[in-house]
Amino acid sequence: MTDSPADVRRASSEDWRGLRTIRLESLSDTPEAYGSTYGESAAWPDERWHAAAAQWTYFLAERDDRVVGMVSGGTNDHRPGTRWLYGLYVTPSERGTKTAARLVEAVGEWARTLGAAQLYLHVTSSVARARAFYEKMGFVPTGDTLTMDRDPSITLLTMVLELD
Ligand SMILES: CC(C)(COP(=O)(O)OP(=O)(O)OC[C@H]1O[C@@H](n2cnc3c(N)ncnc32)[C@H](O)[C@@H]1OP(=O)(O)O)[C@@H](O)C(=O)NCCC(=O)NCCS
Repeated sequence: MTDSPADVRRASSEDWRGLRTIRLESLSDTPEAYGSTYGESAAWPDERWHAAAAQWTYFLAERDDRVVGMVSGGTNDHRPGTRWLYGLYVTPSERGTKTAARLVEAVGEWARTLGAAQLYLHVTSSVARARAFYEKMGFVPTGDTLTMDRDPSITLLTMVLELD
């Protein structure tokens, strides 16, 4: 394993296959971390992945022409005007390499460019590594908790990062 982070770039509609591959891997690897399930996402037709890659804001991490991580930047209907980090994932061989940090930095830069002073996220309370990672990146708990829509036994914590 290398210690250097992978390259991170904004995805375009042409990246829909890579997005599908890494997103399905994430839903299989850590199902409790995400609001969507592998089953429902695996059933998406190609056109839906293409539309998602074109419409939403994704950043992909790549090493040796392989997609090894992803994250998305978005909004939250319950918190108008705020910017959120969604769907962070790096493949196991990238953990501990700072690739995940680069993905978070890319979303932070995206939010900052749109005028945001904070970046929010939800993290599943039981996923200790993700919580530790976000704390290391400077996110702090807001104190808000909620349950996941698809599985109310899963508790989500809200965290926020002050953007410089
Ligand atoms: C969450 C994720 C993106 C973080 O990336 P990463 O490269 O693994 O993160 P890092 O290794 O830099 O940081 C994780 C920290 O947690 C620590 N850690 C590992 N396992 C832990 C555990 N069980 N409990 C507490 N801390 C733990 C590590 O030691 C490390 O801290 P350190 O750098 O001070 O030693 C990555 O692990 C991942 O993709 N996980 C699966 C998907 C996921 O959970 N996504 C989050 C969705 S909200």
